[in-house]
Amino acid sequence: MKRLLVAAILLASPRPHAASLPTLYTLHCSGCHGAAGHGVPERGIPDLHDAGLYAGLPAGRAYLAQVPGLTQSRLDNPTAARMLNYVLTHFSADNLPADFHPYTTAEIATLRGQTVSDAPTRRQALLAAIEGKKPR
Ligand code: HEC
Repeated sequence: MKRLLVAAILLASPRPHAASLPTLYTLHCSGCHGAAGHGVPERGIPDLHDAGLYAGLPAGRAYLAQVPGLTQSRLDNPTAARMLNYVLTHFSADNLPADFHPYTTAEIATLRGQTVSDAPTRRQALLAAIEGKKPR
């Protein structure tokens, strides 16, 4: 399932000559999050394997698309959408909600255009909300 999703997203590339998502990940994201997506959590760089957890909350879905690493990257909106879908399905498929639907270019464009409060504060609030939702 996870492989199928990744393959579908890779094949959906609108521009045949555009760099592949793994290559773009290496260029734009791996410097912080690492080649294998594990980040450096003790230094505040999240492990992308956990990122899918946020997608289950509306505020978390927005947060994922509004992290500075993505919004301030040089990726255009269609590519940013595909990149976010790629990292979520590639690294965090196990944590994605069953009803996860991929980000669209329009959704990314809207979220990217919003002025938001700082990512670490939002992240803390979301983690508390996710923790509160877990069955005890
Ligand atoms: C300069 C370092 C840096 C780069 C480059 C970077 N990120 Fe991040 N990323 C972070 C940090 C730090 C956070 C935590 C939120 C914050 O403080 O911005 C984060 C959070 C995230 C999250 C949310 C996960 C969580 O647990 O909070 C996602 C998804 C993400 N980044 C994806 C990407 C993608 C995709 C790219 C490449 C386009 C990228 N990042 C590039 C540093 C970076």
